[in-house]
Amino acid sequence: MLETIIRRVDGNHPDNVVLSNAGVLIARGRLVAFPTETVYGIGANALDEAAVSALFTIKGRPADNPLILHLAAAEDVAKYVREVPALAVGLMKAFWPGPLTLVFRGAGRLPRVVTGGLETVAARVPAHPVALGIIRAAGVPVVAPSANISGRPSPTTAEHVMADMAGRIDLIVDGGPTFLGIESTVLDVAGDVPRILRPGAVSAVEIATVTGKAPEEEFRRKKHKLPFLSRTRLILVEGTPGSVTDEILRLRACFAAEGKVVAILTREERVGLYPGMVVACGSVTNNRSVAAGLYTAIRQLENVDVILFEGVSQEIGTAVQQRLREVAHQVVRAESGS
Ligand code: TXA
Ligand code: MG
Repeated sequence: MLETIIRRVDGNHPDNVVLSNAGVLIARGRLVAFPTETVYGIGANALDEAAVSALFTIKGRPADNPLILHLAAAEDVAKYVREVPALAVGLMKAFWPGPLTLVFRGAGRLPRVVTGGLETVAARVPAHPVALGIIRAAGVPVVAPSANISGRPSPTTAEHVMADMAGRIDLIVDGGPTFLGIESTVLDVAGDVPRILRPGAVSAVEIATVTGKAPEEEFRRKKHKLPFLSRTRLILVEGTPGSVTDEILRLRACFAAEGKVVAILTREERVGLYPGMVVACGSVTNNRSVAAGLYTAIRQLENVDVILFEGVSQEIGTAVQQRLREVAHQVVRAESGS
């Protein structure tokens, strides 16, 4: 078992020596976790087959679930893809560095383990000084899956990473909590029409403002989908504030009658409306705060039987809503006026 070292840096003004050392470790085939603007990732040298294989092993990740190439500059993508379609050029200008992953036709220059045998390659340029500094220092393309054990929520703090990865990776660069809190949007630009393969921090509407047309959306494709939480049922309750509250109270009573341990996940302002175990995640007036607190809140509740998530659209924002619809075991629409 490895000893996992933690190096703390300022997320916005990181110490270059720490980033250089981290980059060198990755270039030499070691595994290093670092923050991106979305969630923490574990970086490995994309050209080093053994390092990438080790990454799949320590995450418990199915071999056919491909990795995202993380690059320091948009120009670098040309080395690994067969072509950069015109559509992608506009999206790269608008969103890179940032939380949009683009899926291209691959040039076949990466070890098969990276792409799980697919003909396509996913890439993004992260918008985080720590991630960018480490990738630059590595001097190689870096694959960086979220730094969780496969099937668990993505980590948004170094503590989350430590909980899953202690003894499995060499180094965690702790740059504080990530800025956004949910993963990048994965958009396929290899075909004729852009298609969202994973909803994330960039919404379909934002993509449409650049491409002029709403992308297709293909959630629930998810051949690789593992339960987001291994033993906890996550139920997203959507509707107006009043109807959602009524439905959550009703569901809570039903599950409690079955002897289930139930937790309610709501906004700060509404904690007082509910009895029992209630956790606040963000504020009704700030969508970003909901995204930022989402995975921390869910990790706190991993041992309950049921999580009832209060999902009023305007209050949680599109990014969180799409992501939750994808991972929830059930989505319930509360009837208004009940
Ligand atoms: O925000 C993020 O994207 C984070 C941070 C660390 O950058 N990374 C991340 O990586 O979420 P990971 O490995 O946990 O998720 C990558 C997603 C998976 O859903 C995978 O199936 C998809 O991207 N993906 C990767 N390559 C693909 C490809 N060639 N075609 C389709 N989907 C691909
Ligand atoms: Mg992941």
